[in-house]
Amino acid sequence: MRKKGLAILGSTGSIGESTLEVVRRHPDRFAVVSLAAGNNVARLKEQIVEFKPRFVSINGSARFPAGEGEGFAVAYGADGAIQAATFDGVDTVVAAISGSAGLAPVMAAVRSGRAVALANKEALVMAGPLVMEEARKSGATLMPIDSEHSAIFQSLAGHRKQDLRRIILTASGGPFLNAPLDTLETMTPGQALKHPRWNMGAKVSIDSATMMNKGLEVIEARWLFDVKPEDIKVVIHPQSIVHSMVEYIDGSVISQLSTPDMKLPIAYALAYPERIESGTTPLGMAGLSLDFSEPDHLRFPCLGLAYQALKLGGTASAALNAVDEVAVEMFLKGALPFTGINKLIKRVLDSHDVKAIKSIEDVMEADRVARRESLDAMKFI
Ligand SMILES: NC(=O)c1ccc[n+]([C@@H]2O[C@H](COP(=O)([O-])OP(=O)(O)OC[C@H]3O[C@@H](n4cnc5c(N)ncnc54)[C@H](OP(=O)(O)O)[C@@H]3O)[C@@H](O)[C@H]2O)c1
Repeated sequence: MRKKGLAILGSTGSIGESTLEVVRRHPDRFAVVSLAAGNNVARLKEQIVEFKPRFVSINGSARFPAGEGEGFAVAYGADGAIQAATFDGVDTVVAAISGSAGLAPVMAAVRSGRAVALANKEALVMAGPLVMEEARKSGATLMPIDSEHSAIFQSLAGHRKQDLRRIILTASGGPFLNAPLDTLETMTPGQALKHPRWNMGAKVSIDSATMMNKGLEVIEARWLFDVKPEDIKVVIHPQSIVHSMVEYIDGSVISQLSTPDMKLPIAYALAYPERIESGTTPLGMAGLSLDFSEPDHLRFPCLGLAYQALKLGGTASAALNAVDEVAVEMFLKGALPFTGINKLIKRVLDSHDVKAIKSIEDVMEADRVARRESLDAMKFI
């Protein structure tokens, strides 16, 4: 069997490392062609020794000392991840850079017609219609890595689109699901980063605590599955066993269950339509208890803000994503209280001048403007 050539963008992050764990289990099936990282060159070097890529890219200021890099080409800066995505021999691009920096390489991969295993939900949040349109033109396939979207993809398989009633995204509720509301103001980054079920990068962990992560996933699902926003529902499911559900017009609800482990959706995205050993602990059914409840919008105002952005359309979701990135960064730096995150997002979104998006440049301009407005709005929070 010819090995599938992989580009792993964000290889030093949580999803990148989980992807490499899956690759390690299947040396006959996958070859790592290229790796792209941000700043963690020490870890990148270890990955190079183990996986022997032909191309690596570093976005941060770190550099390989002269003499290093033999046996593989190196690129630096934002363009490096694009080169990694489209390097000769890459069949599938694992898009696991965090944040808006992931958009350009995803777009390049999609334009080149390669298969994209998508963890970087921001690409679809910012530019969903453009990314999907490019995929239609190039024939690129987009396989979700987000566990919720992977579950939906699996639950849609073999069914007719017209029989779909709605998509039900599950949300763990994060670390503050049961915290008294009046304590949220004083929650620290350390407390917000402690997710009860998942071990993830900092940005997505804070987004889980505010539930903006679920809001971004609603937007991702809207474009990935071409479903109207009003047909996407969110339910709280603290155990993170049911990864999401699809309800059909006859009342059937189809779902995918497993222990919470990102290796499973990664393995599924890499090997589709086959299923391969992922290293995920099998789910013990005896004694399993599954709880579901409606999200409390007072506790999680970010969820409503994501629906608001979808309703506004055009550049609004890109602006939402940008102000969220600024707000989370400010919170992590101690410059904004936890409850300031949703206040800053609301302020910037409410005053956003929505424009149509016809190109990636329109999206990037909205991103720049919203970041500037977020910094200006900080003084009012
Ligand atoms: N973690 C999860 O369980 C999970 C689940 C579902 C979806 N996702 C999504 O997957 C994406 C990655 O999340 P994560 O948790 O893996 O994040 P993470 O642990 O923070 O890792 C981010 C990765 O991106 C790299 N990076 C950051 N900025 C970059 C840039 N400008 N250019 C090139 N590389 C850059 C980082 O490099 P350095 O570390 O070298 O600086 C790191 O390798 C996010 O979009 C997130 O929403 C994550």
